[in-house]
Amino acid sequence: MPAAEGRSHATRPAVPRSVGTTLVRWFRRHRRPLPWRRDRDPYHVWVAEALLQQTRVAQAVPYYERFLRRFPTVRSLARARLEDVLKAWQGAGYYARARHLHAAARVVVAEHGGRLPRTVPDLERLPGVGPYLARAIAAIAYDAPVVALEANGLRVAARWTLERGDVRTSTVRSRLERALTAALPVRDAAAFNEAVMELGETVCRPARPDCPACPVRGACRAYGKTDDPSVVPTRRARPRRPHVRAALVVLRDGRRWFVQRRAPSELLGGLWEFPGGKVEPGERPETAARRELEEETGMRAGPLEFRGVVRHGYSHFTVEIWVYEGSPVARGGPLAPTRQRWVTPAGFLRLPIPKATEKVVRLLAAARDSVGPARKTTRSSHRRRHPPPSGGAG
Ligand code: ADE
Repeated sequence: MPAAEGRSHATRPAVPRSVGTTLVRWFRRHRRPLPWRRDRDPYHVWVAEALLQQTRVAQAVPYYERFLRRFPTVRSLARARLEDVLKAWQGAGYYARARHLHAAARVVVAEHGGRLPRTVPDLERLPGVGPYLARAIAAIAYDAPVVALEANGLRVAARWTLERGDVRTSTVRSRLERALTAALPVRDAAAFNEAVMELGETVCRPARPDCPACPVRGACRAYGKTDDPSVVPTRRARPRRPHVRAALVVLRDGRRWFVQRRAPSELLGGLWEFPGGKVEPGERPETAARRELEEETGMRAGPLEFRGVVRHGYSHFTVEIWVYEGSPVARGGPLAPTRQRWVTPAGFLRLPIPKATEKVVRLLAAARDSVGPARKTTRSSHRRRHPPPSGGAG
């Protein structure tokens, strides 16, 4: 709708500067005592904002605390092995964030004397630091007069200005960024940016916004001109997440399991897991498990025991993983020791592993603890005595 968007742009008033000052005053009284608000150390701000890009506040708190306990300074992070960084991040998901933090910490130490750069362009030169993260660090740690727009800010600004366009497009984002910048108090960029996010999370929520509690509702066009401000911004239905069927083999040699590390460039790169992969259309899960084992490791297994199915949801797809256990009949070529190992279960749990793999380990423990072979159901898994023969996504 270019015509409508153009017209609304032309007639849309800027957000008044008084909105910024009122909001900052409100924030000083209502801000939640979140751990990353104890100080404005740029490293702390960076870790927090990296986490908060894809993780909700309540979920982010324990990961933030754990990560900073393990790596209290940028130098300690730069010195660490990637594997230990991934382990400290385990469970938070989107592991590229941890890989980037680690790589960028090394750049900060090597090229900036261990101090995070202060300007948006210099920050954006660090690995993994995009427009949001650079602006959030510059504004929150250094009070740079810039607006950092994440999902909450986009929603709040769209309601203040009665934006009808799609907030995921760059045209609309820049328009909203300009509108918010007009309200930015020059000396309070840190408080203003956090205040916008705080308002979005606690008052101007996606559904059922608490307009009576909003300190700036008088200047909000969605509040003044619509019956229901929650319809702004327009929400597009999310496409259904595709479902993937996968199968893996827990290859056992005495007490040890064969495990391997995912390539750094892959999804979940650098994490350790059991050999396995996608079940092809029409393929039986057990056949897929054997095929993947041989392709990935050069090893073949004897008889396989079906242990159950683990289900897991990622942001863009869901997966069911058929779990088989067996012993090798023929050893393949030599191991690639940096990415393939035989480990004890305890040793495996010391490595960084994806959440779905944690579920597989729990399934194996439950199978060991159960009396009969293959009869148990756990919350994250489902066991069947006789797995159906068909393959394909289900
Ligand atoms: N979301 C992103 N950054 C945030 C912050 N600093 N405080 C609260 N919520 C946030």
